[in-house]
Order: sequence, then C-alpha cells, then structure tokens
Amino acid sequence: MLDALRTIEEEFRAAIDEAGADPERVEAVRVRFLGRKSPLTALMKQLGKLSAEERPAAGQAINQLKKSIQQSIEEAVEKAAAGALEQELQDSSVDVTLPPRSPWRGSQHPVHATRRELERIFRDLGYTIETGPEVEDDFHNFQALNLPPEHPARDAQDTFYLEGDRLLRTHTSPVQIRTMESRRPPIRMVCPGRVYRRDHDATHLPMFHQLEALVVDKGISMAHLKGTMDRVWKTFYGEQVKTRLRPAYFPFVEPGAEYDISCQVCGGEGCRVCKQTGWIELGGAGMVHPAVFEAVGIDPDVYSGWAFGLGIDRIAMMRHGIDDLRLLVENDVRFLSQFPT
Ligand code: PHE
Repeated sequence: MLDALRTIEEEFRAAIDEAGADPERVEAVRVRFLGRKSPLTALMKQLGKLSAEERPAAGQAINQLKKSIQQSIEEAVEKAAAGALEQELQDSSVDVTLPPRSPWRGSQHPVHATRRELERIFRDLGYTIETGPEVEDDFHNFQALNLPPEHPARDAQDTFYLEGDRLLRTHTSPVQIRTMESRRPPIRMVCPGRVYRRDHDATHLPMFHQLEALVVDKGISMAHLKGTMDRVWKTFYGEQVKTRLRPAYFPFVEPGAEYDISCQVCGGEGCRVCKQTGWIELGGAGMVHPAVFEAVGIDPDVYSGWAFGLGIDRIAMMRHGIDDLRLLVENDVRFLSQFPT
C-alpha cells in the first residue's frame, strides 16, 4: 500500500511539473489524480480488505497524500491564473507616453448654422422669430395668400397633398398668415423652417429650408424692403454686397419682385457660379397684396407691408462653396465635421 502511494505521488509530481502554468493541463491532472477514477479512489476502496490493525495507518496515509495533491493543484491553478494575466499584460502593453486622442467634437449642420446666423441678424434688427406647422391646411398655404382653388399659380408649387384639405406646406408664408391672424401691426417677423415640394433632381430636394421676413405697419414702402434687404445681406456677406430687385409675379405681393445679390464668388465680375451675369438670385419679394390683408382682417387702407423669402440651403451652399445639394442630407460625418461651430 505504501509503495503504491509513493508511486502515485511520484507520478503526480511529474505530471503537475509538466502541466506548468497551463490551466487546461492543470485541470487534466486534477481529474486524473483526484477524480472518481483516480488511483487514490481505487486504493480507498481497497481499505476494507486490510486487517483492523493496518487500516487506520493506511487510511491516514491516503488522506495525507490526497491533501498534499489538493494543495499542489490549488497552487498550480493560482500560478496559471497569474500567468494568464501576465501574458495579457505583455500582449497588450500600454504606452503611457503617447499623447491622448483628442475628444470627438460635434458640429452644427451648415444649414442649421446658416439659419441661426440669419435669425440672429434679424433679431438684432428687432424682429420676432415665428414658427408654424409643417402639415398645413389649404387656407393658410394658398387661399389666404391670394391663391384661390383654381388659381393657375398653384401648379408652380408642386404640392404634396395629404388627406382632406391637409398638405405639406410649400413655403413658410403660411406662418406669416398665422402671425397676422393672431397679432395686430406693427409686425416685424421672420419665419424659418422646412418646406416641401414634389421636386427631386440634381438641384432640388423634396424638402428644403426657407426663411421669410414680413413687416406690417403704417406707411411701409418698397424703399423699406430694399433698405432692409441691403442691411441683412451686408451684415451676412460683408459691406461689398449689392442687392437688386427685378419685377416678378407672386400672387401674394403687388408689386412683386425677384431679388439678386452681387455674386460672392467673383465679386460681380462674372464667373461659372453666376453664369457670367455677376448676380445670384436669392428669392422673391414684394409689397403684401391687399387681398392677403383682407384674408387676415387687417385694413389695407391703413396698413401696408413688405415680405421677402430666401432658401437657406442655397445660402449655406454658397457660403461654404458646397457644390452638391445631396451632401446636405446624406449626414456623412466626414462632410459635416468640416464645419466646426
Ligand atoms: N413664398 C414665396 C415662395 O416660396 C417666396 C416669396 C416670399 C415671394 C415673399 C414673395 C414674397 O416661392
């Protein structure tokens, strides 16, 4: 029996030495020497065959060896765990002398930043900033703006119609109607926001951004319109900017105009961007039509007013030299991160 125990111990020492710090092999050694089919378990079963005098000593010897094996295995397991950690630390070494990565900074979308800048210019001039629903009704988007149901100019708006008399607003002008309905003159307001038209090609998106300005008071004339436009674009682009009005038709203004600013790419000399004209068209403008005032209950014999509109997307593109409209809606972070706030 003692000989057998000695052999087991020798075999165990050899096996555990060989297993080293490999956790899987240590586990295999544990199963082999402490498991149900281990030689120690077999010896235990033979204890019964020994005489009463021999039995206690033999039992003690077996238990002793078992304990010693258990202890050795525990140590080996600890060593294996420490070894694994050591290995991991070596494999993934950290160079603490490297400079840190700079934190990621978000930025404002160029359209949003342009909108905020325009809002600030108007706010500094004493205008309020108004918003309204993007799902509008026919009255506010068309009828109150002197566009009755059969008016041919409705075609030009490429409207998305919804259920009933609902539609996606085709311009921000309905916000002017809503403001005039709820407030009496003097009114000085701008309404920025999203608008929708059934247009989709290289230079048009079905959703884009407008900002319209409206002033209503006694004695307001076209000169105020021209002067305000001049001031706004000089503040936005710089004192070198010139503005001009060209006669044009919009149902809700009379007289109506389209307005241009001198090309900011070539300074008015003529280039590819302004198609050699030296001017860039920015939007529509004009004196509020008496029919619009009547629709909102403002007396056109007492009050007059002007309005002008602009496309924010177009202005953001000109400002940053962006030549593809799609870049504005693709949300590519590589593009957007070029406009730090
Ligand atoms: N609401 C017009 C449009 O979207 C623009 C405009 C505004 C024209 C104000 C004249 C006066 O087409």
